[in-house]
Amino acid sequence: MTSSGRAGFALEKDSLRILLEAVERLEEGFAGLPPVSAGAAPEPAMREILLEVAGRLTENYPFFHPLYAGQMLKPPHPIARAAYALAMWVNPNNHALDSSRASSRMEKEAVAEIARLFGWETFLGHLCGGGTMANLEALWVAGRLSPGKTVVASDQAHYTHGRIGGVLGLLFETVPCDRRGRMDAEALERRLARGGVGTVVATIGTTATGSVDPLPAILSLKERYAFRLHADAAYGGYFGLAGNLEAEARAAYDRLGEADSIVVDPHKHGLQPYGCGAVLFRDPAVGRFYKHDSPYTYFTSSELHLGEISLECSRAGAAAVALWATQKLLPLVRGGAFARRLEASREAALALHARLAADTRFLTAFAPELDIVVWTPRAPRASLCSDLARRVFDEAARNDLHFALAEIPAEFFDADGSGIQKDHDRITSLRSVLMKPEHREWVPRIWEILDRATRTVLG
Ligand SMILES: Cc1ncc(COP(=O)(O)O)c(C=O)c1O
Repeated sequence: MTSSGRAGFALEKDSLRILLEAVERLEEGFAGLPPVSAGAAPEPAMREILLEVAGRLTENYPFFHPLYAGQMLKPPHPIARAAYALAMWVNPNNHALDSSRASSRMEKEAVAEIARLFGWETFLGHLCGGGTMANLEALWVAGRLSPGKTVVASDQAHYTHGRIGGVLGLLFETVPCDRRGRMDAEALERRLARGGVGTVVATIGTTATGSVDPLPAILSLKERYAFRLHADAAYGGYFGLAGNLEAEARAAYDRLGEADSIVVDPHKHGLQPYGCGAVLFRDPAVGRFYKHDSPYTYFTSSELHLGEISLECSRAGAAAVALWATQKLLPLVRGGAFARRLEASREAALALHARLAADTRFLTAFAPELDIVVWTPRAPRASLCSDLARRVFDEAARNDLHFALAEIPAEFFDADGSGIQKDHDRITSLRSVLMKPEHREWVPRIWEILDRATRTVLG
């Protein structure tokens, strides 16, 4: 039996007691004020509605459970959830210092700790809504620095880069990847030689396969072609802390600090609630592009207001509070508990990949560079592989195991070498993002259900 008195899986609730204590501490801090009534007290209607909400939320896949092994999704760490909720009693707005004295400072401290991951002591950076907004800011600055020039990313870069190019009115092109989903440095060089490229986007952990673009080769090209380098490390940014990367990925992380701007999403691997991306610039002087005047809000301090260096105006101060608290509990250091979580995720991915690669029913792509695995049931033609993958996906879900599906270029599977007829360029593949450290212990269980689902489908 669990603490809730019901058999089966229990959601973490102990942090609620600590949260209550912290709310009381917060209340004490404002005790000098004349008393006011407690505001909207929970009425029967609120209870009824919240219970209905709980019912509605069960329509989701169980992102908190290790048998959810699909997309990049997991709930925040309990401390992030509690700290965010605690901040809601105040609801600071990190636009200006007047509206967020504590949480603006917490944001500066938390972002400085992220910057240290890349060896940056001086930099300009802030939190924002997520990876898309963060990349938009980075490409906006890049576009201001090289007007009229083209932004180039790999064809496995996140789809929003093309969209951002459209929003900002920037020319945008892609170059192909190698068979491991990483930007093909030779193709990039051919494009650079034709001229007109102002910015290259390197993806450090692609969305589909977690592939890491070859940063050392791209940096050599930067010396010769003098472009601006933006690293989209929205997914993979924290993995530099992991002690179990392969040599090529390690070499990319070791030089990440040489990029001109970096995006990392605390709401992916940083254990945060959604609404938490981060953009960082190596040269703080790019702050000049953000320069504006806000007669309404910037009046109490000569210290930097975060709104002066962000495109957005209002932003959740609670996001900074949650991130600060999480990093205090789990500092971003090699060998620490946070780093070990990433290592466990990678071990889970390697273990699942090894089982798949050893089983003739499956066709695997390359070994994972981070913690994302893609594979497909083996069939004579690419289109048949796709059909089978969809059916295994459904059958696994019927047994509470949730994967994702992704459109993966057939060459990632070495379709020719494995004798699979390429009647389609892409294969709808099974994809598993093993981003919860618990996944490592759950790989045997995941395998058991996958094995059964595959037997059912293949007959
Ligand atoms: C590499 C990469 N960049 C950017 C994004 C977009 O981030 P967001 O969904 O936070 O806007 C994603 C999302 O998965 C991503 O994987």
